[in-house]
Amino acid sequence: MADSLLTTTEETSSPIELVPTSDFETWQAERSPLALSWLLKNEFTAKSGQTVWLPDDEGNPYSVAVGWNGDDDLATLGGLPYGLPAGVYHLTSSVTELQLLGWALGAYRFDRYKSNEKEPAQLLISDEYDAERLNNAEAAITLTRDLINTPAGDMLPTALAEEAQQVADANGASCRITVGDDLLEQNFNAIHAVGRASVDAPRLIDIGWGREGDPLVILVGKGVCFDSGGLDIKSAAGMRTMKKDMGGAAHVLGLAQLIMAERLPIRLRVLVPAVENAIAGNAYRPGDVLQTRNGITVEIDNTDAEGRLVLCDALALAAEDQPELIIDFSTLTGSARSAVGAEISAMFCNNDDVAQDIYRAGVEQDDPVWRLPLHQPYTHMLESKIADTVNSASSPYGGAITAALFLQKFIAAIDWVHFDIMAFNNRHRPGRPAGGEAMGIRAVFAYLLGRYGG
Ligand code: BES
Ligand code: MN
Ligand code: ZN
Repeated sequence: MADSLLTTTEETSSPIELVPTSDFETWQAERSPLALSWLLKNEFTAKSGQTVWLPDDEGNPYSVAVGWNGDDDLATLGGLPYGLPAGVYHLTSSVTELQLLGWALGAYRFDRYKSNEKEPAQLLISDEYDAERLNNAEAAITLTRDLINTPAGDMLPTALAEEAQQVADANGASCRITVGDDLLEQNFNAIHAVGRASVDAPRLIDIGWGREGDPLVILVGKGVCFDSGGLDIKSAAGMRTMKKDMGGAAHVLGLAQLIMAERLPIRLRVLVPAVENAIAGNAYRPGDVLQTRNGITVEIDNTDAEGRLVLCDALALAAEDQPELIIDFSTLTGSARSAVGAEISAMFCNNDDVAQDIYRAGVEQDDPVWRLPLHQPYTHMLESKIADTVNSASSPYGGAITAALFLQKFIAAIDWVHFDIMAFNNRHRPGRPAGGEAMGIRAVFAYLLGRYGG
C-alpha cells in the first residue's frame, strides 16, 4: 500500500473538508463566530490548494478546510501530503480516484541520497475506493521517477538492466538481455555503435509477459543512461540534465509494471536499448554509416541524435513481431519541448482513432498529450548523398517531426504511437514534485484499459 494512503489505522484522524472556491461566501456564512475569526486571521479565501485549520468547540485545531477550484485533477489533494502537518487525515466528502492519486503522487520524495526531512501526511481512505489500483499506479510512477532521478553514475546500462530484471522477476515475466558484441552478432549495429564508447557495455533488454493468444502490444523505451552528445559534444548547460535521457526506458518499465500488476489481458513485450552516449577513441563519428537491423543504412550527421539510432534497431525488432500496437517513449528532441513545452507530452501516431482516444484519455487523467503531425513531405530533410538516410535533418525546423519521421522508417505499417517527452518537472506543482516525472503513461494505461478491457 502506498505509504501516504491508508485503509486502516489505529490512530484518530483529522477531517479534511474541500471548499469550492465558488461556494466560499455561502460556506463562510455558515461557520461559527469562532471559526470565522480563524478564517479571517488566516486570510482564507478557498483558492485552490489553500489550507486552514478550524477549531472545535473548545477552540482547539480540529479540522482542515482546503480550497478547491472544482477541477478533477492531481492538484486537488496533491499539495497536502507536505502542506499539512504529519499525521492521519480523512476526507468528509467523496473524491475521485484521480484526486486520491494526486495525494499519493504528492507524497513522493527522492530519498536515495538524502533522507526525507518531513514525513508526508497520510490519508485514510474508505473501502469505496480501489486501493489496490491506486497502489499499483503510485508504485509504477514512483519506479519511473526513481529511475530518472538516479544519476547516471548509479544508473548506467548494467544498473538499468538490473532494474528491468527486477520488474520482470516480480511479475513472473521473462527477461533476456543482449550485451556488448552479442549485439553485433544479432544485428543491432546501431545500438552497439552509440553505446560502444562507454565503460559500461551497451545492451538490449527484452521483457516478455502474458498469455499466448492475447493481442500483442510492444513498448519501446529510449534508454540513454547519459547523453554527452558524443563527439558532437553538448554544451555544459545542455549536458547538465542528461541523466534523464533514459526517461523513456523508465516510462516503459513503469507502464509495464502497471499493466502486469493490473493483469491486463494483453501479451506484452518491452524493449529497452540501454546505452551511454559517451566519448572515447572508439566512439562512433559524424560521417560514419551504420547498417541498421532492418537493412536501412544511416549516415551519421550528428552523434547527438543518438536516441533515434538506438530506437531504430529496437523498433525494427518490434515490427518483426507483427504486434497490434507499438508504443515508444523517448526524451528524443529539444524541438518537442519548444513545440509543446515541458509539461505536455508530444505524441505522434499513424492511426487517427488511436491518437484521438489517447488524447481523450490524457484529458480525463490530467496527463496532457498533444499530437504533432507525421508530415511526410518533411522526409526530404533526411536525405543522404551516400546512404538511405541521415540521422539528423539538414534543417532544425520541425526537429521533433523529422525525428519521428526517421523512426517511422523502421516500424513498417504497424499501428504506432511515439511519445517525445520531457520526463522531468522543471518546477514543483501539487502532485508533481520537481525532478523525474512520468508523462503520458497514465493516459496510455487508461487507453489500453479501455481498448482491452479488464
Ligand atoms: N536527449 C536529447 C534530447 C533532449 C534534449 C530532450 C533536452 C530533452 C531535453 C537528444 O538526444 C538530442 O540531443 N537531440 C538533439 C537532436 C539534434 C542533434 C538533431 C536536439 O534535440 O537538439
Ligand atoms: Mn543527444
Ligand atoms: Zn539523447
